[in-house]
Amino acid sequence: MAFRTDVINKQGYFISLEGGEGVGKSTQIRLLGADLKEKGFDIIETREPGGCPGGNAIRHLLLEGDIHRWTNATEALLFAAARSEHVTRVIRPALDKGQWVLCDRYIDSSLAYQGDASGIGEDNIRKLHYIGSQGLMPHRTLLLVLPNGEGVERAKIRDGNQGNRFEKRDLDYHKKVNEAFHKLALENPERFRIIDASGTAEMVHKRIMHSIDDLLS
Ligand code: TYD
Repeated sequence: MAFRTDVINKQGYFISLEGGEGVGKSTQIRLLGADLKEKGFDIIETREPGGCPGGNAIRHLLLEGDIHRWTNATEALLFAAARSEHVTRVIRPALDKGQWVLCDRYIDSSLAYQGDASGIGEDNIRKLHYIGSQGLMPHRTLLLVLPNGEGVERAKIRDGNQGNRFEKRDLDYHKKVNEAFHKLALENPERFRIIDASGTAEMVHKRIMHSIDDLLS
Protein backbone atom coordinates (compact mmCIF):
# COMPACT_ATOMS: atom_id res chain seq x y z
CA MET A 1 0.00 0.00 0.00
CA ALA A 2 1.21 3.52 -0.79
CA PHE A 3 2.63 5.14 2.29
CA ARG A 4 2.50 8.91 2.83
CA THR A 5 5.35 9.86 5.12
CA ASP A 6 4.10 13.48 5.13
CA VAL A 7 1.11 12.59 7.29
CA ILE A 8 2.86 10.25 9.70
CA ASN A 9 2.96 11.64 13.25
CA LYS A 10 0.79 14.62 12.34
CA GLN A 11 -2.22 12.96 13.88
CA GLY A 12 -2.18 9.97 16.10
CA TYR A 13 -5.34 7.92 16.29
CA PHE A 14 -6.77 6.49 19.46
CA ILE A 15 -7.91 2.91 18.85
CA SER A 16 -9.56 0.75 21.50
CA LEU A 17 -10.03 -3.02 21.34
CA GLU A 18 -13.09 -4.38 23.09
CA GLY A 19 -14.88 -7.66 23.59
CA GLY A 20 -15.97 -10.23 26.14
CA GLU A 21 -13.62 -12.60 27.93
CA GLY A 22 -11.12 -14.67 25.96
CA VAL A 23 -11.69 -13.22 22.49
CA GLY A 24 -7.95 -12.72 21.95
CA LYS A 25 -7.58 -8.95 22.38
CA SER A 26 -4.10 -9.07 23.90
CA THR A 27 -2.67 -11.11 21.02
CA GLN A 28 -4.34 -8.80 18.51
CA ILE A 29 -3.02 -5.63 20.18
CA ARG A 30 0.49 -7.07 19.94
CA LEU A 31 0.11 -7.97 16.25
CA LEU A 32 -1.48 -4.61 15.43
CA GLY A 33 1.22 -2.70 17.30
CA ALA A 34 4.01 -4.61 15.56
CA ASP A 35 2.45 -4.09 12.12
CA LEU A 36 1.92 -0.34 12.65
CA LYS A 37 5.47 0.11 13.99
CA GLU A 38 6.84 -1.68 10.95
CA LYS A 39 4.88 0.72 8.77
CA GLY A 40 6.63 3.60 10.56
CA PHE A 41 3.92 4.84 12.92
CA ASP A 42 4.77 6.07 16.39
CA ILE A 43 2.51 4.07 18.69
CA ILE A 44 2.02 3.15 22.31
CA GLU A 45 0.21 0.03 23.55
CA THR A 46 -1.64 0.20 26.81
CA ARG A 47 -4.53 -1.41 28.66
CA GLU A 48 -7.32 -0.88 31.15
CA PRO A 49 -7.71 -1.06 34.00
CA GLY A 50 -4.04 -0.07 34.39
CA GLY A 51 -1.65 1.61 32.00
CA CYS A 52 0.10 3.77 34.64
CA PRO A 53 1.12 3.41 38.32
CA GLY A 54 -2.15 4.73 39.75
CA GLY A 55 -4.20 2.75 37.25
CA ASN A 56 -2.27 -0.42 38.09
CA ALA A 57 -2.81 0.09 41.83
CA ILE A 58 -6.56 0.35 41.19
CA ARG A 59 -6.37 -2.69 38.85
CA HIS A 60 -5.28 -4.86 41.79
CA LEU A 61 -8.25 -3.65 43.83
CA LEU A 62 -10.65 -4.40 40.99
CA LEU A 63 -9.43 -7.77 39.75
CA GLU A 64 -8.25 -9.53 42.91
CA GLY A 65 -10.06 -10.89 45.91
CA ASP A 66 -13.53 -12.11 46.66
CA ILE A 67 -16.12 -11.85 43.91
CA HIS A 68 -18.38 -9.82 46.26
CA ARG A 69 -15.56 -7.54 47.45
CA TRP A 70 -17.14 -4.34 46.07
CA THR A 71 -20.62 -3.07 45.40
CA ASN A 72 -21.46 -2.50 41.73
CA ALA A 73 -21.36 1.27 42.31
CA THR A 74 -17.91 1.15 43.93
CA GLU A 75 -16.66 -0.90 40.99
CA ALA A 76 -17.95 1.65 38.49
CA LEU A 77 -16.28 4.46 40.43
CA LEU A 78 -12.97 2.58 40.63
CA PHE A 79 -12.93 1.90 36.87
CA ALA A 80 -13.67 5.58 36.21
CA ALA A 81 -10.90 6.62 38.64
CA ALA A 82 -8.37 4.27 37.01
CA ARG A 83 -9.37 5.64 33.59
CA SER A 84 -8.99 9.23 34.78
CA GLU A 85 -5.38 8.58 35.80
CA HIS A 86 -4.68 6.72 32.57
CA VAL A 87 -6.18 9.40 30.31
CA THR A 88 -4.50 12.28 32.12
CA ARG A 89 -1.07 10.76 32.49
CA VAL A 90 -0.71 8.53 29.41
CA ILE A 91 -3.37 8.75 26.70
CA ARG A 92 -3.78 12.52 26.30
CA PRO A 93 -0.04 13.28 26.46
CA ALA A 94 0.61 10.60 23.79
CA LEU A 95 -2.12 11.96 21.48
CA ASP A 96 -0.81 15.52 22.03
CA LYS A 97 2.60 14.32 20.80
CA GLY A 98 1.00 12.83 17.68
CA GLN A 99 1.40 9.22 18.79
CA TRP A 100 -1.14 6.50 18.13
CA VAL A 101 -2.66 4.91 21.21
CA LEU A 102 -3.74 1.24 21.09
CA CYS A 103 -5.74 0.46 24.19
CA ASP A 104 -6.87 -2.98 25.37
CA ARG A 105 -10.36 -2.08 26.73
CA TYR A 106 -11.65 1.44 27.44
CA ILE A 107 -14.98 3.19 28.18
CA ASP A 108 -17.13 0.66 26.25
CA SER A 109 -16.06 -2.02 28.75
CA SER A 110 -17.45 0.14 31.56
CA LEU A 111 -20.65 0.74 29.57
CA ALA A 112 -21.11 -2.99 28.89
CA TYR A 113 -19.94 -4.54 32.20
CA GLN A 114 -20.89 -1.89 34.78
CA GLY A 115 -23.49 0.07 32.82
CA ASP A 116 -25.53 -2.84 31.48
CA ALA A 117 -24.58 -6.21 33.01
CA SER A 118 -24.13 -4.81 36.56
CA GLY A 119 -27.11 -2.45 36.21
CA ILE A 120 -25.48 0.94 36.95
CA GLY A 121 -26.88 2.41 33.73
CA GLU A 122 -25.03 3.72 30.69
CA ASP A 123 -25.92 7.37 31.39
CA ASN A 124 -24.35 7.17 34.84
CA ILE A 125 -21.19 5.62 33.38
CA ARG A 126 -21.01 8.42 30.80
CA LYS A 127 -21.32 11.01 33.60
CA LEU A 128 -18.44 9.41 35.49
CA HIS A 129 -16.41 9.35 32.28
CA TYR A 130 -17.08 13.04 31.78
CA ILE A 131 -16.00 13.88 35.34
CA GLY A 132 -12.91 11.67 35.26
CA SER A 133 -11.70 11.93 31.67
CA GLN A 134 -13.60 14.83 30.08
CA GLY A 135 -15.45 12.24 28.03
CA LEU A 136 -12.45 11.43 25.80
CA MET A 137 -13.53 8.87 23.19
CA PRO A 138 -11.46 6.70 20.81
CA HIS A 139 -11.40 7.48 17.07
CA ARG A 140 -12.06 3.81 16.36
CA THR A 141 -13.23 0.89 18.45
CA LEU A 142 -12.67 -2.67 17.28
CA LEU A 143 -15.13 -5.11 18.83
CA LEU A 144 -13.84 -8.70 18.69
CA VAL A 145 -16.68 -11.20 18.73
CA LEU A 146 -17.00 -14.96 19.15
CA PRO A 147 -20.20 -17.00 19.48
CA ASN A 148 -21.73 -16.61 22.96
CA GLY A 149 -19.87 -18.36 25.73
CA GLU A 150 -16.96 -19.52 23.58
CA GLY A 151 -14.63 -16.76 24.79
CA VAL A 152 -15.54 -17.26 28.44
CA GLU A 153 -14.71 -20.96 28.12
CA ARG A 154 -11.43 -20.06 26.42
CA ALA A 155 -10.55 -17.67 29.26
CA LYS A 156 -11.41 -20.31 31.87
CA ILE A 157 -9.12 -22.85 30.15
CA ARG A 158 -6.36 -20.21 29.85
CA ASP A 159 -6.61 -19.21 33.51
CA GLY A 160 -7.42 -22.68 34.88
CA ASN A 161 -10.56 -21.39 36.61
CA GLN A 162 -8.34 -19.03 38.61
CA GLY A 163 -9.53 -16.05 36.57
CA ASN A 164 -10.12 -12.50 37.83
CA ARG A 165 -13.26 -11.36 39.69
CA PHE A 166 -15.07 -10.77 36.37
CA GLU A 167 -14.20 -14.05 34.65
CA LYS A 168 -15.70 -15.86 37.66
CA ARG A 169 -19.16 -14.40 37.01
CA ASP A 170 -21.76 -16.70 35.47
CA LEU A 171 -22.53 -17.19 31.81
CA ASP A 172 -25.67 -15.07 32.10
CA TYR A 173 -23.58 -12.04 33.16
CA HIS A 174 -21.19 -12.55 30.26
CA LYS A 175 -24.10 -12.97 27.85
CA LYS A 176 -25.41 -9.56 28.98
CA VAL A 177 -21.93 -8.06 28.46
CA ASN A 178 -21.75 -9.43 24.91
CA GLU A 179 -25.23 -8.18 24.07
CA ALA A 180 -24.37 -4.74 25.43
CA PHE A 181 -21.21 -4.54 23.32
CA HIS A 182 -23.20 -5.53 20.26
CA LYS A 183 -25.82 -2.85 20.96
CA LEU A 184 -23.12 -0.19 21.46
CA ALA A 185 -21.55 -1.16 18.13
CA LEU A 186 -24.87 -0.90 16.30
CA GLU A 187 -25.62 2.48 17.91
CA ASN A 188 -22.21 3.92 16.96
CA PRO A 189 -21.41 2.59 13.48
CA GLU A 190 -19.06 5.49 12.65
CA ARG A 191 -16.73 4.58 15.53
CA PHE A 192 -17.15 0.80 15.84
CA ARG A 193 -16.04 -2.03 13.57
CA ILE A 194 -17.17 -5.55 14.46
CA ILE A 195 -14.37 -8.07 13.95
CA ASP A 196 -14.95 -11.82 13.62
CA ALA A 197 -12.47 -13.21 16.17
CA SER A 198 -12.70 -16.83 14.99
CA GLY A 199 -9.93 -18.56 13.05
CA THR A 200 -6.18 -18.14 13.44
CA ALA A 201 -4.59 -15.07 15.04
CA GLU A 202 -3.18 -14.16 11.62
CA MET A 203 -6.63 -14.29 10.01
CA VAL A 204 -8.08 -12.04 12.71
CA HIS A 205 -5.14 -9.65 12.35
CA LYS A 206 -5.84 -9.29 8.61
CA ARG A 207 -9.47 -8.40 9.37
CA ILE A 208 -8.29 -5.80 11.88
CA MET A 209 -5.86 -4.20 9.41
CA HIS A 210 -8.67 -4.04 6.87
CA SER A 211 -10.91 -2.31 9.41
CA ILE A 212 -8.43 0.56 9.96
CA ASP A 213 -7.31 0.87 6.36
CA ASP A 214 -8.89 4.33 6.03
CA LEU A 215 -6.80 5.66 8.96
CA LEU A 216 -3.53 4.64 7.35
CA SER A 217 -3.72 6.60 4.12
P1 TYD B 1 -8.04 -8.46 32.12
O1 TYD B 1 -7.23 -9.43 32.90
O2 TYD B 1 -7.35 -7.27 31.57
O3 TYD B 1 -8.88 -9.30 31.12
P2 TYD B 1 -9.19 -9.30 29.58
O4 TYD B 1 -8.08 -10.14 29.00
O5 TYD B 1 -10.53 -9.97 29.52
O6 TYD B 1 -9.23 -7.89 29.07
O7 TYD B 1 -9.23 -8.02 33.08
C1 TYD B 1 -9.98 -6.90 32.92
C2 TYD B 1 -11.36 -7.26 33.47
O8 TYD B 1 -12.01 -6.08 33.90
C3 TYD B 1 -12.23 -7.92 32.43
O9 TYD B 1 -12.87 -9.02 33.01
C4 TYD B 1 -13.25 -6.87 32.09
C5 TYD B 1 -13.28 -5.98 33.30
N1 TYD B 1 -13.53 -4.55 33.01
C6 TYD B 1 -14.74 -3.97 33.41
O10 TYD B 1 -15.60 -4.65 33.98
N2 TYD B 1 -14.94 -2.64 33.19
C7 TYD B 1 -14.00 -1.84 32.58
O11 TYD B 1 -14.22 -0.63 32.39
C8 TYD B 1 -12.77 -2.46 32.17
C9 TYD B 1 -11.70 -1.63 31.51
C10 TYD B 1 -12.57 -3.81 32.41
